[in-house]
Amino acid sequence: MSTPDNNIFPIHDKLLDRNSKELLLKQRAKVLWFTGLSGSGKSTIAIEVERELYARKHLTKVLDGDNVRMGINNNLGFSEVDRNENIRRIAEVAKLFVDGGVVTICSFVSPSEELRSLARSIIGKEDFIEIYVDTPIEVCETRDVKGLYAKARRGEIKDFTGVSAPFEKPLQAEITLHAGNMSVADCVNVVLDNILPKISNLKTG
Ligand code: ADX
Repeated sequence: MSTPDNNIFPIHDKLLDRNSKELLLKQRAKVLWFTGLSGSGKSTIAIEVERELYARKHLTKVLDGDNVRMGINNNLGFSEVDRNENIRRIAEVAKLFVDGGVVTICSFVSPSEELRSLARSIIGKEDFIEIYVDTPIEVCETRDVKGLYAKARRGEIKDFTGVSAPFEKPLQAEITLHAGNMSVADCVNVVLDNILPKISNLKTG
């Protein structure tokens, strides 16, 4: 065997493949990628979707912005460059989970088409289901669960999405949830109706 330039020797061909894991788990793995403003309800819906999938015997993993930023991405801030690296790492991690057969639920602001396209291209478009939690900023700001909008308006947080940094409406979302005037339960049901056939069909993938 000739030595590659970077001295890296991946072992993909020797590993048990994804299909074996999916058969074991009796599910097809997908990534559910929730995008939306801070306070839009992404995490709340993601948590409930995970519970509903668990009740139906699906193995899942939730990756969530605030959690991931406490650990693997604790060296990243909110500049464009850092958000890009944040999403790149998350997408690579999500891809690892999908390779293990796990339904992976990602909840990240991911505020630009470029960031969401990056995630889609790393994960693979056939495994990527983009879910836009379309809650008007006025609603997010009125709720202000974490008090961050008030801080951002006072200028205490810079580059805050929706206030001092942009949020581009998704153009490619498979699902849009008008979460400002829908209950959490209704949002969860819309997601389940869309994804259950995709993760349950072991024959056609
Ligand atoms: S992303 O833009 O890089 O996708 P991510 O989802 O990881 O963001 O983190 C967003 C969370 O970080 C928000 O829900 C909020 O709690 C917190 N946060 C802190 N500072 C900012 C900021 N400047 N812009 C957006 N969210 C922020």
